[in-house]
Amino acid sequence: AKRVTVSTLRAMKEAGEKIAMLTAYDYSMAKILDAGGADVLLVGDSASNVMAGHETTLPITLDQMIYHASSVVRAVNRALVIVDLPFGSYQGDSKIALSSAIRIMKESGGHGVKLEGGAEVADSIKRILSAGIPVMGHLGLTPQSIYKFGTYTVRAKEEAEAERLLQDAILLQELGCFSLVLEKIPAHLAGKVSQALAIPTIGIGGGVDCDGQVLVTHDLLGLTKDFHPRFLRRYAELFDVIQDATERYVNDVKAKDFPGPQEQY
Ligand code: KIV
Ligand code: NA
Repeated sequence: AKRVTVSTLRAMKEAGEKIAMLTAYDYSMAKILDAGGADVLLVGDSASNVMAGHETTLPITLDQMIYHASSVVRAVNRALVIVDLPFGSYQGDSKIALSSAIRIMKESGGHGVKLEGGAEVADSIKRILSAGIPVMGHLGLTPQSIYKFGTYTVRAKEEAEAERLLQDAILLQELGCFSLVLEKIPAHLAGKVSQALAIPTIGIGGGVDCDGQVLVTHDLLGLTKDFHPRFLRRYAELFDVIQDATERYVNDVKAKDFPGPQEQY
């Protein structure tokens, strides 16, 4: 299959074809998601929660993101692979931001980076783009700022914050971002932003008028059990499938049923 590029995504928006993005953190899963036709695989810093069991996305390191990303890149034949810049690797100093992005590109083979925020990270975005590295923005609920907000509730419900988000979205486009994630904002605002921009928006809890959708793969597959936000649709219950397989294996071992005569040398 033909590889997805940032230009493909732009053309998809122009053609009105929705973009399907999923998170991926490892080789085996990325192979399946690529085979299933995901257009973009995001090596999200949600790996901090999903893969490492941290409460927030803050602890994951650049080295750890590169390890996850390189595993995903090796699996992919078609999807565009975008890698989150982790907390602390791009804020405040645009030179540090550029060197973090360069490390991701060189050491993982990813095709671009994503970072959270608007005007406050404009210098970092500009410098990364100046090296020819595609940048995806991320507005609305930005989990790396969780301790500033205190909750994971819907963002930009009030007029002033909604207007600021729209201005940030326009700024990200003007800086040269190829796309942006809109996380957990009112659907009418996400629709308005999507209409105002030529670059594709990817929603998570942003409603159907975004140019694409993203979900955390472990949530969509039902590998995570106790997470039921309104925006999540589960397409499988793999926690139960895997628990059942584990129980049957354990029982077979205890009962000396496994391995059988044909399963040994
Ligand atoms: O890290 C992540 O999984 C993300 C998506 C939810 C957009 O940033
Ligand atoms: Na993220």
